[in-house]
Amino acid sequence: MQETLKEIVNAAKEAVAACSDESQIENLRVQYLGKKGQLTALLKQMGSLSAEERPKVGALVNQAKQELEELISAKKQELKIKAQENKLNEETVDITMPAKPVKTGKLHPLNTVLDDMINIFQSMGFDVVDGPEVETDYYNFECLNVPADHPARDMQDTFYLGENLLLRTQTSAAQIRTMETRKPPIRVICPGRVFRADEVDATHSPVFHQIEGLVVDKGVTMCDLKGVLEEFAREIYGSDTKVKFRPSFFPFTEPSVEVDVTCSECGGKGCRVCKGSGWIEILGAGMVHPNVLRSCGIDPDVYSGFAFGIGLDRLTTTRYKISDIRLLFENDKRFLEQF
Ligand code: PHE
Repeated sequence: MQETLKEIVNAAKEAVAACSDESQIENLRVQYLGKKGQLTALLKQMGSLSAEERPKVGALVNQAKQELEELISAKKQELKIKAQENKLNEETVDITMPAKPVKTGKLHPLNTVLDDMINIFQSMGFDVVDGPEVETDYYNFECLNVPADHPARDMQDTFYLGENLLLRTQTSAAQIRTMETRKPPIRVICPGRVFRADEVDATHSPVFHQIEGLVVDKGVTMCDLKGVLEEFAREIYGSDTKVKFRPSFFPFTEPSVEVDVTCSECGGKGCRVCKGSGWIEILGAGMVHPNVLRSCGIDPDVYSGFAFGIGLDRLTTTRYKISDIRLLFENDKRFLEQF
């Protein structure tokens, strides 16, 4: 029996030494030490031995068992480390490979121009305020001196969301909201998206952007309006830009003007951009109508103010020489990447 034990142990040692992967070593463990393993079988045969021999042989078998257990678990550990090393070797990172390009976004041209505008007006002491895109009929029209039957509504047909709710056609509603919540002196601009039921073409879109400006204080005159707009035009188009007021009509300002600046492309000589006139129309403005002040609880005999509405999209297309307003809204990356 001791002979057999020796044979088994030697064979096991050889097999373990020759073993090269983790599943193989597990098979060996089962083969020798498992419930039906060879050493276990040997232990079962102990009954046939004499009473003197039994403890001796028993001790030997147990010793052999322990030896094999240690051997196998050491081998297991060794194989495990080896497998890990192999895996790491296979997965080494080739640091000489070119990196994947990181795509960074940038500002949309409309936002770049808007940021410039905000900077210019903030430097003149204006606050930036926000207003809702879904407006009530009252704030968008009624309170701006445009009652339900007023013909000026025709020019600003929009998308109605019910009896009294609509997508705002102008940021002018922000005038009212501001005057309701702030006391003069007021100096704000309100940039935002506006909507009109317009046919889409190269210069029209049913969605576009305006920047409303409003100043209310004691003794504000049209000279102040002109000064502010001149300053703004020079910042945007260059220091020798001239500003021209043309009489116009808006229900919420009186008097009202349309404001032109000398064409930045030809300097006023006349070119394709300004259609030969030398001037480009950039905004509407005027002195806030006394009715509008009154409906916001501001006494027109004490206070006066001016308002203006700038079209952000036109400003952007002329600055970057973009020929079609639709390009601003299509979000084609090939277009946007150019800015
Ligand atoms: N809200 C006017 C428009 O959309 C522009 C404007 C604003 C005119 C403020 C005068 C004063 O046409």
